Amino acid sequence: MTPHLTVVEHPLVQHKLTLMRDKTTSTNSFRRLLREISLLLAYEITRELELTTMRIETPLQPMQAPTLEGKKLALISILRAGNGLMDGILELIPAARVGFIGLYRDPDTLQPVQYYCKVPGELEDRMVIAVDPMLATGNSSVAAIDMLKAKGARNLRFLCLLASPEGVERMRQAHPDVPIVTAALDERLDEHGYIVPGLGDAGDRMFGTK
Ligand code: URA
Repeated sequence: MTPHLTVVEHPLVQHKLTLMRDKTTSTNSFRRLLREISLLLAYEITRELELTTMRIETPLQPMQAPTLEGKKLALISILRAGNGLMDGILELIPAARVGFIGLYRDPDTLQPVQYYCKVPGELEDRMVIAVDPMLATGNSSVAAIDMLKAKGARNLRFLCLLASPEGVERMRQAHPDVPIVTAALDERLDEHGYIVPGLGDAGDRMFGTK
């Protein structure tokens, strides 16, 4: 059975994450590291993609060789920070279909407010991977998964860079059928809903905004 939470403990992932957490890391380096780490996380989250075989001929002989089965998977970026994770995954899976869900967090209530939703068709026939670097309160992740399920998605995954125990628990209660893959499970949330020790605001660090 797929575990609800997988922390990718590979040394390359952990090393790159430490560099990303460091507040002296530049915007440029942060973006490059995020792209690199997303390739490694994508490897883990796509582990259960179904295979079939096709007949090919190698220079030596014919063979039935493994190939991905079914409809192209769908990658859904939760704007805006999700885009940084998605760019790297698309390098690995260039044929994936892509969607966007725009949610911002109301600073007072910390509740998600939707402002955009455009996703590929036939979600019911695809593996759907929602990506957002930070699983913090879990409110926007739960809302994004609610929206994807309402549009037919059944085979869902959630990919993030950092998760808080509170966010994982919120997802487990709302969507126990959606496995989460992350590079680290941090200690807690602070009073502003930031992950501690975390890496700060992922969008700001990625895009150089404040
Ligand atoms: N979003 C971020 O960018 N960082 C956090 O720590 C929590 C939510």
